Amino acid sequence: MSASLAELLRGFAGARVVIVGGRGGVGAAVAAQACDLGARVVAASRQGAADWTAPGRGHAVHAWLDLADSASIRAFTQRVAEKYGAVDILVTAAGVTRSVALADLPHLDDGLIDEVFLANAMGPLRLARDLAPLLRAGTDPVFVNVSSVAARTGLGSNIAYGAAKAAMDTAMISLAKALAPAVRTVSVAPSALDTPFAQGRGPEFIARTIAATPLGRLANVTEVANAVLAAARLLTATTGATIYVDGGRHL
Ligand SMILES: NC(=O)c1ccc[n+]([C@@H]2O[C@H](COP(=O)([O-])OP(=O)(O)OC[C@H]3O[C@@H](n4cnc5c(N)ncnc54)[C@H](OP(=O)(O)O)[C@@H]3O)[C@@H](O)[C@H]2O)c1
Repeated sequence: MSASLAELLRGFAGARVVIVGGRGGVGAAVAAQACDLGARVVAASRQGAADWTAPGRGHAVHAWLDLADSASIRAFTQRVAEKYGAVDILVTAAGVTRSVALADLPHLDDGLIDEVFLANAMGPLRLARDLAPLLRAGTDPVFVNVSSVAARTGLGSNIAYGAAKAAMDTAMISLAKALAPAVRTVSVAPSALDTPFAQGRGPEFIARTIAATPLGRLANVTEVANAVLAAARLLTATTGATIYVDGGRHL
């Protein structure tokens, strides 16, 4: 493939795009740009509508999906199949976490470990498994998962979070091989972002993160969304790779 940048950007027009966590900080930024570029976007999350409503023409359809529930994933997949027949771009930009200091092992409770692994690893993997036939049927199909630099550094909101992101990163490498040559997979790994994501993360954490970041600042959701969109339509020879959007925090 040797298309120009302008031609590649036209690849969003009419594309069937599923964004899980599509109303969160990163997901909403991806959804807004994909809609502007003419894509047909389904934004799915636990606050989505059971009847898949869209706020207006040219806006994302809001759909209900709980990544922690296999039955919800199966029902969502069925609905996508009936409505669109295929998926061209799947973005998983969902996740949950809570701040528990690494050394505070007594507070790394079972509920937190289960919740974090379900939303950040098990759910996205189950969804990718169930949507794989629809991706295979798509046009230039790609699966982009939003990971975290914590998967590499082991530093993040808690031990389970980095471990869950690392598990999904490895699954993305396996999926790149399993679904090739039809489907590409890319992980996009931010460092801390200015969203409500990590409950309990204080200003000291942000200050420490900035101090340990070579570029001396946090990335923002627009930069992460741009990386997701680039992975989806511009980086046509990239698969099984992780792209850091972290100001060099992983170094
Ligand atoms: N913000 C950061 O500092 C940061 C840093 C590195 C990586 N990340 C990653 O970036 C991604 C996006 O995070 P964000 O900053 O945009 O956070 P956010 O604003 O909190 O958005 C996350 C979204 O995930 C959805 N979600 C959570 N659990 C879900 C479930 N079980 N099923 C379906 N949807 C679920 C939530 O929607 P509902 O509540 O409607 O379900 C929420 O809108 C996440 O994967 C996160 O791990 C974030």
